Amino acid sequence: MSRQAKMILDRAFRISEIDQRIYGSFIEHLGRAVYNGIYQPGHPSANEDGFRRDVIDLVRELQVPIVRYPGGNFVSNFYWEDSVGPVNERPHRLELAWKSLEKNEVGLHEFSKWAKAAGSEVMMALNLGTRGISDACNLLEYCNHPGKTKYSDLRIRHGQKEPYGFKTWCLGNEMDGPWQMGHKTAEEYGRLAEETAKAMKLIDPSIELVACGSSNRDMPTYALWEDQVLSRAYEYVDYLSLHTYFGNRAGDSSDFLAKSDDMDAFIREITATCDYVKAKKRSKKKMYLSFDEWNVWYHSNSADETIMSRPWQTAPSLLEDIYNFEDALLTGLMLIVLLRHSDRVRIACLAQLVNVIAPIMTEVNGGAWRQTIFYPFLHASRYGRGTALWPILSSPEHETSGHGPVTDVEAAAVYNGEKEELTIFAVNRNLAEDVALTADVRSFEGFAAAEHIVLEHSDLKAVNGAGQEHVKPKSVNRTAMDNGTLTAMLNKASWNVIRLRREERR
Ligand code: AHR
Repeated sequence: MSRQAKMILDRAFRISEIDQRIYGSFIEHLGRAVYNGIYQPGHPSANEDGFRRDVIDLVRELQVPIVRYPGGNFVSNFYWEDSVGPVNERPHRLELAWKSLEKNEVGLHEFSKWAKAAGSEVMMALNLGTRGISDACNLLEYCNHPGKTKYSDLRIRHGQKEPYGFKTWCLGNEMDGPWQMGHKTAEEYGRLAEETAKAMKLIDPSIELVACGSSNRDMPTYALWEDQVLSRAYEYVDYLSLHTYFGNRAGDSSDFLAKSDDMDAFIREITATCDYVKAKKRSKKKMYLSFDEWNVWYHSNSADETIMSRPWQTAPSLLEDIYNFEDALLTGLMLIVLLRHSDRVRIACLAQLVNVIAPIMTEVNGGAWRQTIFYPFLHASRYGRGTALWPILSSPEHETSGHGPVTDVEAAAVYNGEKEELTIFAVNRNLAEDVALTADVRSFEGFAAAEHIVLEHSDLKAVNGAGQEHVKPKSVNRTAMDNGTLTAMLNKASWNVIRLRREERR
C-alpha cells in the first residue's frame, strides 16, 4: 500500500486574495537577456522594433504581469540618461557588474514598448549604488511627470508625450552585498532609502517603493539589516525585498527539494522582523514583501567564470543555466511557498525571464524554447489567480541530509470565485515513494474533478533543448471525487495541478 497524505480544504480557510504580481519576472541588462534575447533585429521573428515575436509569445503564454528592469547588479552603476534619446547618439559603456560592453541600443523607451507588447507592467529599479536622490528624482520626473519641466519635456522631445506612469520602483538592488557597486552599511542605506523615498513621493505620491532587504538568508547582516533599514525608512516605503537562489551543488536531490522550506522560513523571519519594527514604531502600517528575485541558479557558475575572464564582450552567454527536471520540482515548491504567503508577499519575480537563469531560451539562429521550469510557473500563473486557501495537510515524512525529516507532500490551494474553480498545486518530493492524497473538500459542494496535470520524469536530470521537450506536462487520470472526498495519486517526484470545477460548468 502506498503512503497516505490527508488534507482538509475549506472555503473558509482563506489566506488572502492573491496579488497577480506574484507571477512577475525580471529582465536585466545581463548576458543575452536583452541583446539576442528579447531583442534581435534581423531575426526572422523580429517585429518592427527588433523584438523577437517568438519570445513575446512565450512571455504572453506565461502571463507575466510585471517585469523588473534594468537590474539587478547592473542597475547599481546605471546611467539612465545613456539609455534614452536617439539610439545612434547613445554612449557605449563599460558595464562593471558583469564586465560586459553595454551599447544602450535598448533603453527605457524600447523596453517599455517591449513590456507593452508582452502584456507586462514595468517595475523600475533605481541606481542607489553609484548615484543617489537627485538622479532618482530626475528619472521619476522623466518617466511619470506630465510635462513643462526639464525632464518631462526631455521625455516628450524623445517622442513619448504621455507619461509612463510607472507605479512600482525599487530603491536600488542588494545594497547589503559587498559585490554591489556602491555597497552600503544598513545605516547608510536606511538613510538613503528614507530620503530618496521621501523626495520621490513628493514628485509622484501614487508610486509604490521597494526597499532592499538582505540579498539572501545567509548574509552576515541578515535580519539586523532589515531592522536597521526599516527603522529608518518604514513609513516611506511599501515593500521590503527578498532574494534567494538555490542549487544542488552537493548532488543530493532529496535535500535540494527540501530547500523550499528555507524559503518559507526566510519569509516568516522577515515578516516577523517587519512586524517588530512596526511594533517599535507603534505604526499602523503593514509592510508587504517583494520577493523580487527567486530561482535555481548554479549550473552555469563555472562557465561564467571563464566568460568573465574575457571581459567587455557584448551580450556574452552568461548565467545560461540549463534546468533539469528536479529544478522544475523545486520551482513548483517555491511557487507553493509564495502562494501560502500571499497575505504578505504581494510581488515576486522569477529571476530571470529570457536566457539568463530563465524559463525561456533563444537560439540566435533558431527559435525560442521552454525550459523545464517554464511549466510549474505557467500552471501557477494560469490557475493560481483568485483566493489562496490554507490546506490543512498531514503528510508522511522522509529524512534528508541537511533538513532532517521533511514532508513528502507540499501543497497550496487557490479558489477562483469568478470561474468557480478550485486548484490544488501539490509536489510529492519523496523520490522513492508514491503518495495517495485524500482531501476533504465538502465545502465545495457540486464541484467535480476537471483535470489532473502532472509534470514527471524518470530521470531527475532530464533537460529540454531547442526542439526537444523531454520534460513537459501531461493530463492523467489519477483523481476521483466521491461525496466531497477527493482522492489523487501523487507519484514520487511529481508536480501536480488538480483542478476542480463546479459541475454544471464542465
Ligand atoms: O539575477 C542575477 C543577479 O543575482 C542579479 O543581478 C543580482 O541582483 C543577484 O545577485
